[in-house]
Amino acid sequence: MGEQVLTITDERTGKSYKAPITDGTIRAMDLRQIKEDAEDFGIMTYDPAFLNTASCRSSITYIDGDRGILRYRGYPIEELAEKCTFLEVAYLVLNGSLPGESELKEWVHLVKHHTMLHETTKKFLEGFRYDAHPMGMLVSTVAALSTVYPEARHVLDPENRRMQIVRLIAKMPTIAAYTYRHSLGLPYVYPDNDLGYTANFMNMLWKMLEPKYVANPVLSRALSILFILHADHEQNCSTNAMRAVGSSQADPYLSTAAAAAALSGPLHGGANEQVLLMLDEIGSVSRIPEYIDAVKAGKYKLMGFGHRVYKNYDPRARVIKWTAEQVFQVTGRNAKLDIALALEKIALEDEYFIKRKLYPNVDFYSGIIYQAMGFKPDMFTVLFAIPRTVGWLAQWDELMRDPEQKISRPRQIFTGSAERHMPAERPTIGVPVGV
Ligand code: SDX
Repeated sequence: MGEQVLTITDERTGKSYKAPITDGTIRAMDLRQIKEDAEDFGIMTYDPAFLNTASCRSSITYIDGDRGILRYRGYPIEELAEKCTFLEVAYLVLNGSLPGESELKEWVHLVKHHTMLHETTKKFLEGFRYDAHPMGMLVSTVAALSTVYPEARHVLDPENRRMQIVRLIAKMPTIAAYTYRHSLGLPYVYPDNDLGYTANFMNMLWKMLEPKYVANPVLSRALSILFILHADHEQNCSTNAMRAVGSSQADPYLSTAAAAAALSGPLHGGANEQVLLMLDEIGSVSRIPEYIDAVKAGKYKLMGFGHRVYKNYDPRARVIKWTAEQVFQVTGRNAKLDIALALEKIALEDEYFIKRKLYPNVDFYSGIIYQAMGFKPDMFTVLFAIPRTVGWLAQWDELMRDPEQKISRPRQIFTGSAERHMPAERPTIGVPVGV
């Protein structure tokens, strides 16, 4: 194999330049040496939406989009979904290895004892209208926690970071459940530390007047699997937001709020809610061909299909599809599942989608499961944000430890006006030019 070097010839000057190739990349800064004149700024790369730009080095999640591979810290997602609890996977994603028995016991105890919210949070939530979107409430409440824990701004202290990480992972389900209860006008339910992470979440969502909530084990395990599948996904849009905001050394509550805001978009984590609205719009299996034609005419996107990285089947969708069958054995079959299965079959055989490598992604089936469990569609992205908080925080912690990282500040190609001046006759009302 030849030398790991890229030789670039600038036809404008006839000069050649060398850029070392490391891990399949060249450093963008190595292009700045390429100038037409000595005082030039030098060559930059132009990569809108970062289609072909690595922003960091990370050891957390590995994805192979062509082979449909997803691994957390080297473990295939399928094995983690089969053999682990969500908090075990959270520990793995955050720390790089699976916990031993004593480590897991300590980790679970730590998370359980930080599930409560400061009582003033209830007053904060009461300020929202009854019909406020849960994601708006979640993003705002997470940001508000930065006022409850002002010490969180000491982001360079690893122990301080770990404390805030535990608090956020522990409190996300409580915040989510409180937004749900607020939207239904129901009293908040306090965490029950006798219950596991997802069973306690169900307790805070659905406990009524019974003395002790008992979670259906099939549904609790299904939520645990869904949370595992959503925990991290390398440099997706919301993780990029987490890293960009975190790079200014903003505290982890404000950074997580920014990441959750990015997740809420319909092209990202908001897609699961859009899938249900799309299935409602289609209405029946018989109307699928008509809808597919409208998608191919560019009128709609097929929500829950396509992915920036996966140009093959999203491995998470396969596990979620299996989980859906387990859930429907408890909740009863859902007519939307029949439409979704028929829609998937038709789309996978249609040249338009095959040519564009559009396969079901993680959002296609998750929404149907959540709906069968009794969640309203506007809660679906909240259910995505809870587990993805683990990934956002692991990526943020990795960023804070990375000696190569500094504040994110991309450049631009300026397309605006050349210098121009105010009319001389305009009176001076401010600071005279040239003082
Ligand atoms: C998530 O990045 C992550 O890792 C995200 C995520 C995570 O875990 O963090 O995996 C979670 O966000 C999953 C994606 C959820 N979003 C959706 O399901 C919304 C619908 N999907 C699309 O909007 C789209 O597929 C994206 C946003 C997911 C990816 O878009 P890209 O990579 O920018 O691709 P593109 O828009 O350039 O599309 C390429 C072509 C275009 O057609 P042409 O212009 O070439 O004719 O495919 C078409 C697009 O119009 N296309 C679709 C389509 N997605 C892409 N056409 C119809 N329906 C779709 N869903």
